[in-house]
Amino acid sequence: MNISKICCIGAGYVGGPTMAVIAQKCPQIQVKVVDINQARIDAWNSEDLSALPVYEPGLDAIVGEARGRNLFFSSEVDLAIEEADMVFISVNTPTKTYGEGKGQAADLKWIEKCARQIASASKSNKIVVEKSTLPVRTAEAVKDILDNTGNGYKFQILSNPEFLAEGTAVEDLLDPDRVLIGGDTSTEEGLEAIQALVDVYAHWVPSERILSTNVWSSELSKLTANAFLAQRVSSINSLSELCESTEADIYEVSRAIGKDSRIGPKFLQPSVGFGGSCFQKDILNLVYICRSYGLFEVADYWEQVIKINDHQKGRFAKKIIKSLYNTVSGKKITFLGWAFKKDTNDTRESAAIYVADLLLNEGANIYVYDPKVSEDQMYNDIDYLNTRTKVENRRLLQSEFDPYAACKGAHAIAVLTEWDEFRELDWQKIYDQMQKPCQIFDGRNLLDKQKLEKIGFRVYAIGKSS
Ligand code: NAD
Ligand code: UDX
Repeated sequence: MNISKICCIGAGYVGGPTMAVIAQKCPQIQVKVVDINQARIDAWNSEDLSALPVYEPGLDAIVGEARGRNLFFSSEVDLAIEEADMVFISVNTPTKTYGEGKGQAADLKWIEKCARQIASASKSNKIVVEKSTLPVRTAEAVKDILDNTGNGYKFQILSNPEFLAEGTAVEDLLDPDRVLIGGDTSTEEGLEAIQALVDVYAHWVPSERILSTNVWSSELSKLTANAFLAQRVSSINSLSELCESTEADIYEVSRAIGKDSRIGPKFLQPSVGFGGSCFQKDILNLVYICRSYGLFEVADYWEQVIKINDHQKGRFAKKIIKSLYNTVSGKKITFLGWAFKKDTNDTRESAAIYVADLLLNEGANIYVYDPKVSEDQMYNDIDYLNTRTKVENRRLLQSEFDPYAACKGAHAIAVLTEWDEFRELDWQKIYDQMQKPCQIFDGRNLLDKQKLEKIGFRVYAIGKSS
């Protein structure tokens, strides 16, 4: 089956970059990305490529090349579904905030809405592709809705989870470790649908990196790949605390562990805690699924990854408070970074939000400098926790456009995101303008500790005894 028109529902961090790369690599396929959020669509269509709603290195050039040629962003969802041979569902699947499974299960209301809309807008047979990360066996529900609420057309459901990481989305999409396609391997139509999607990726991905499986393995592999990655970060972070008590150095330990070819060096970078829209949500979802199958020990095992992460964020905040003589009330504390990692404007579940919340509870005045995150976004993030009033949040937390202004007069600086530019700051100038003793809490172990200590700073780095 030859695919000539693709529709993607959801123009977010996954839908936007993924479809931009498909469009760039497959100029003969028309790709329409649709969203109910008109402001987001307008931003994707913005003439100024620096105003795209998702910041990713290299994305502006790809959108610039394909947009208007075979890549389109629109809010006309029904029309795009009707025209397409293949419809990707790439909507958000956050943790439920209400009802059964609150705080753990994935909220699938947007997925169900998409399935119903695809069924009602379709005027021909279609392949429906789950791109969102979903609990294992969601395809069963999607198929049930499509088969029972549609206009008699046939649907094949594929699972094609996305493995890109933010900040490196474009390179991950252009050169993926693997592309995973789950489908109905027991029928001719299922195999044809799988092949149709394999053919799309085969335009640029070598065939040995395109894996096909049954739908359930594909759905489950995505959740568990994220759980494995997060587990590595929690493992190294748990050891960082032990290093601080024993004079072992977390970098020396991490290097020694990672040199074992069976373990490997990646994802052993100690930090203030992992953030992002995926790790916590997907592990919580995995925990919920395990409990719902009565697998309580398995659920407890994975839940511990989250507990260590919460502990890591909490102990970082406590370290700041303790080092500032157990009181931060009325003191200026500067945050360098608010995004959950460098090279993205995404702040979902960023450790910075939780560390800020704990310090604000103690009455600290926080000034934040982040090169890509707006003040509005910071307020949305902190208000969302509902810990104090919006007025109080605006009184205690502000953003600054200039890192030197953010640091001027501060009692302490905390590095929350590993933006490269923080290394290049004039640290002598910052020292001269700060309250003494000057303290830096490096939640990313980004800065040159020795150099800073030579200037006169007291430096706390994760996993290093000072
Ligand atoms: P996002 O919130 O950035 O984007 C989702 C978009 O879907 C939003 O713009 C929203 O308006 C739109 N939407 C919701 N319901 C809709 C509907 N009925 N019709 C049209 N548009 C609708 O989310 P994201 O980060 O792109 O994540 C999407 C999915 O991909 C999630 O399941 C996530 O777990 C998964 N995922 C995310 C990443 C990542 O790094 N962000 C990586 C891999 C997988
Ligand atoms: C993750 C997965 O990596 C990706 O494959 C999946 O598709 C989506 O979820 P993402 O959340 O975008 O990607 O970024 P990632 O690079 O995994 O980082 C997640 C968090 O872990 C960040 O806060 C990062 O700073 C932190 N991290 C990562 C560490 O603290 N130490 C590490 O060694 C690696």
